[in-house]
Amino acid sequence: MEAVGFIPASQQEVITDKTVTWSAPSNIALVKYWGKYDPQIPANPSLSFTLNNCKTKTSVALTHKNLGSDKHAQEFSFEFSFEGAPKPDFHPKIASFFTRVVDYLPFLKAYHIIIHSENTFPHSSGIASSASAMAALSLCLLELSNEFSSSGPNNFSEDFYAKASFLARLGSGSAARSIRGPLMQWGKTAVFESSQDLIAVPFNQELAPIFKNFQDTILLVDKGEKVVSSTVGHGLMKNHPFAEARFQQAHDQLAVLTESLVSGNMEKFIEVVESEALTLHAMMLTSDPYFILMKPGTLSIIEKIWAFRKLTLIPVCFTLDAGANVHLLYPEMHKDELLQFIENELVAYCQNGQYICDQVGSGSISHTEAP
Ligand code: DP6
Repeated sequence: MEAVGFIPASQQEVITDKTVTWSAPSNIALVKYWGKYDPQIPANPSLSFTLNNCKTKTSVALTHKNLGSDKHAQEFSFEFSFEGAPKPDFHPKIASFFTRVVDYLPFLKAYHIIIHSENTFPHSSGIASSASAMAALSLCLLELSNEFSSSGPNNFSEDFYAKASFLARLGSGSAARSIRGPLMQWGKTAVFESSQDLIAVPFNQELAPIFKNFQDTILLVDKGEKVVSSTVGHGLMKNHPFAEARFQQAHDQLAVLTESLVSGNMEKFIEVVESEALTLHAMMLTSDPYFILMKPGTLSIIEKIWAFRKLTLIPVCFTLDAGANVHLLYPEMHKDELLQFIENELVAYCQNGQYICDQVGSGSISHTEAP
């Protein structure tokens, strides 16, 4: 698949009486994407669970732009509100996304774009919202774009979701994986022939029953702004002394993880998932400049999980994002024991005692109302 295949053939026409709406979930990587090349090409393959409850819902409408004599005005014209209030701090991120995708969505320069967005999870919870936000925005823009095209209205085919993933990737790499579910793979690898760099695709093998409705409880250890953004962190992999070994490790771990996802081997699953989380943070600890995103509470929770697992033999493990929060992953059949354990032993390490109960989900949903 080539990027040029995503450029529309015909010039796009005007439709301004339509509002499109999509919700897209967040996702949690089991094999981590950390390191990238231009344009948003991952340095190694990744695999993620799509979440169900942590979502961004976005609506987009277009109005005519006052172009004056310049029919091809260079500047984008848009407004963005988040949970009902204008959010100018988000403008640079949206403008840079538009710049990256305008070749594929040429109508962006010709209209004034009105975007409304809201999250189902508390904002400033330290949960990365760029994946769900960029996925939802991409789906809306693609739906509008298809309305314009001569190929007629949308039918939300495989091809539609592939294009949405392509656009979302250009907004934020992990967003490519938030379009569908329950498990998404992204990045070229010999482990899966179907996996590629330009789009994320659903994991194409039968999952062992234990992973059905797999739970992810997100322990909010620190809700503050991250000291180093993911984008900067990716950049620090460029001259990282361990980069090549790490990229190779991701392929190797992906192969082991795939085998465990199919066979239901929880021991192997836990080993890979926890190793991936700790390796991600090890890359941060050994970057130049080095940085630490974990907090003391993160480590205390990890120790508690290990002790609990040893004592109860319940197959629960943790993973980490680029932040201090801990994702607790476990089979649905152990939900009651786990929630008890969280309340008794882990809540003390969560800011304001907060945690979010989520589980594996099936991906984005259209909320566009029929005309
Ligand atoms: C640690 O997708 O947020 O969550 O492409 O620069 O927007 P950009 O980075 P982003 O990086 C996510 C990193 C991660 C691992 C992962 O989700 O695979």
